[in-house]
Amino acid sequence: MDEGDSKSHKSVSEKLEAIADVVSECRKCPLAETRTNTVPGEGSPTAEVMFVGEGPGQDEDLSGRPFVGRAGKLLDELIESLPMRREDVYIANVVKCRPPGNRDPERGEVEECSGYLRQQIEAIDPLVIVPLGRHALGWFNPSLRITASNGKIFRHEDRVLMPLLHPSAGLRNPSNAEMLREGIHNLREAILEGIRVKREAIAEPEVATRPSDGDAEAPSSVLEEAGKIASDEAAETDTGETPVGLFERAQTPEEVQEEMRKQRAIEEAAEAAENEEPAVVVDDRQSSFF
Ligand code: URA
Ligand code: SF4
Repeated sequence: MDEGDSKSHKSVSEKLEAIADVVSECRKCPLAETRTNTVPGEGSPTAEVMFVGEGPGQDEDLSGRPFVGRAGKLLDELIESLPMRREDVYIANVVKCRPPGNRDPERGEVEECSGYLRQQIEAIDPLVIVPLGRHALGWFNPSLRITASNGKIFRHEDRVLMPLLHPSAGLRNPSNAEMLREGIHNLREAILEGIRVKREAIAEPEVATRPSDGDAEAPSSVLEEAGKIASDEAAETDTGETPVGLFERAQTPEEVQEEMRKQRAIEEAAEAAENEEPAVVVDDRQSSFF
């Protein structure tokens, strides 16, 4: 990795603009027919954190900007609660054009559009990627479940993933809103973990280049540094699969078990709520830890 060049403000901005230019002309999938504007993404070219949603909604389609509707307002509040600023992060989506009626993007549409997100990630090279909701998480790792992964820190290639529920789920259900508020507060830890991963990738390139879809393997020195090593059992998601090439945030086995128990209890309600109409307006004015 060439840190000097890849994080140079100007060259990253230029790359992001070039990607947005191509996206603005893109007609590679049928979503081009129904969009008003493309929504390539926006934010700081030097962002350490990149949020990735599923695809533009109506407000985003009309404005050409990501997360500007109600879900976006909640996302802003979550970011500001850290405290961080929206301008300091980068916000993008898996697909850059609105699926009509806010339906899920189809597999072919995601495939056609994926190159743009990959290029954006490569250009920004963030320490932490926050997939928002199960569709965005599925783009990075289909074996992880969103409710079980909310606010957890996973290694992904030479950076970390910290999935969160989609903010629109938080608008619909108070327990989802609570999960989002709790989850976002792990972002500081995720950034620190991202720094460790990046430093290790620079110091020990063979660790950084290990395949993310390889077999389960010995914990990395990054984890050992973090103090505690999640057991294989603890690292299993409730899909019964061990996330391969990823690690759990360092927790005691008791903490992991307690968390998994809590998550299982709320999971059904949370996932059902992802498909419901908005019912609850979120009060996000809870005190933060830092
Ligand atoms: N939902 C998303 O997934 N992305 C947006 O940009 C807005 C709402
Ligand atoms: Fe192109 Fe992506 Fe828009 Fe489809 S969704 S037209 S692939 S930019």
